[in-house]
Amino acid sequence: MADVTEPEKEPLLGDSKTPQVKPKFTKHLILSIAACTLGSSFQFGYNTGVVNSPEKVMKSFYNESYHRKEGKYIEDSLLTLLWALTVAMYAVGGMIGGVSAGYWGNKYGRRGALLRNNVIAVMAAGLLGFSKMADSYEMLIAGRFVVGINAGINTGIVPLYLSEIAPIELRGFCGTFNQMSITFGVVISQLLGLDFILGTDELWPLLLALTLVPVIYQLCVLTFCCESPRYLMLTKHDEQAARKALIWFRETTDVSSEMDEMRSEAVEQIHRKKFSVGDLIKTKELRTPLIISMVLQLSQQFSGINAVIYYSTDIFTSAGLARSTAEYATLGVSVVNVSMTFVSAFFMDRLGRRALHLAGLGGMFVFTAILTVSRVFQPFHHWLSFICILAVVCYIIFFAIGPGSIPWFIVAELFTQGPRTAAVSVAVLVNWLSNFVVGFVFPILQSAISDYSFVPFVVLLAGFWLFTYIMLPETKGKTVEEIAALFLPKSLQESLPVDGVESERAKIN
Ligand SMILES: *[C@@H]1O[C@H](CO)[C@@H](O)[C@H](O)[C@H]1NC(C)=O
Repeated sequence: MADVTEPEKEPLLGDSKTPQVKPKFTKHLILSIAACTLGSSFQFGYNTGVVNSPEKVMKSFYNESYHRKEGKYIEDSLLTLLWALTVAMYAVGGMIGGVSAGYWGNKYGRRGALLRNNVIAVMAAGLLGFSKMADSYEMLIAGRFVVGINAGINTGIVPLYLSEIAPIELRGFCGTFNQMSITFGVVISQLLGLDFILGTDELWPLLLALTLVPVIYQLCVLTFCCESPRYLMLTKHDEQAARKALIWFRETTDVSSEMDEMRSEAVEQIHRKKFSVGDLIKTKELRTPLIISMVLQLSQQFSGINAVIYYSTDIFTSAGLARSTAEYATLGVSVVNVSMTFVSAFFMDRLGRRALHLAGLGGMFVFTAILTVSRVFQPFHHWLSFICILAVVCYIIFFAIGPGSIPWFIVAELFTQGPRTAAVSVAVLVNWLSNFVVGFVFPILQSAISDYSFVPFVVLLAGFWLFTYIMLPETKGKTVEEIAALFLPKSLQESLPVDGVESERAKIN
């Protein structure tokens, strides 16, 4: 506590009376962002996309393995079921990992949890990589489950770490960088999975085991990064360590204003000690942000994005493309996704979350409608298959603009430190659950109403757009406290939060 009254050390440039230097990307910040996203987020994306391309060769392994054990070839329906399990176990693991992410994040810290999570990834890589050698598709399905747990923990912790280490002005950029690494992981897995690279009968186990590469990378780099200062300050109550970490991230000793902000959040927190998911649901003023967080996750998944990512090759072939061309088109769509996410990173802190999410959902609504119409009339007008492809590409562009990245990090922005981890756990669970539902239901929709299978998404997108328009406040450039104040009853809004900060500042000075 002695640290509170200690005068701030002179900043490196100028004196302390001049306004603080605008926070910028320091080397340490970039290193930490890269360690966390190109490790964990990449890992998540890689395993999301990895079973798309080698589906055929893996299915024939299932068939042969079954034949060796049972003495007869596998039935079509059983094969379909086993494959659906292979895809979906990932999401089941993701739900479990996502729910427990908050617990690990509080116990070991954000960085600590990410580092430890690599143990799970190594186990998964073992199961996946040796499944062929062991002639066991059960091992493969188990591996998908375990790697799903790893991905679930990553999707919970990464947004926490990023939003806690980034200066306010760069929070959106950092959050978008998360999504960019996810999409980058999807592209690399689809590229390596092509049938002339690793998507072959012999090499597919290697393709799955390559999930070890981000593990090694992250262990090498994240080890040298600091823990989140907000975690140290607000969860561990270790002000010394928090200041040290903040100085490391900002590469300047003048961190007083950020320390002040965290201190006043700490004061706010005193009367609400521990926050479980139950407390979160019971607390009235947190209900609105919680509902917003959940609906935004739904808007990401029920926009139909994974229907496009998992089954785009099918969509393209049914629109009249040859199989091999369709695979390249899928890859192209993923590349568009990465590049557009990159573009949106630069707009996130300028145009704001609300505008980009609305633009994204609106665009996706228009292009799923166009996709549906052109699929219906494609048999009569051949040129419409090009409109289909174009619609999918535009759909992805609008996804990348907002709904791809915003739901992940908006949760961390809408809550203060106390309820933040519980809120992230709920949001991540909702995300994975809807991921699972879409992944499982879409093929059924596809076979039941084929050309109209995107109609439910058109309707849902319209609903999500309306919800966002009415409910989502802008969070760009606001402190965590200012955002929390938006959800207080109107009568309290004007006086309380500002006073809190001011009186706290007065005490400190
Ligand atoms: C399994 O493999 C056999 C032999 O190659 C083939 O005739 C059969 O159609 C395959 N079964 C399925 C469900 O793909």
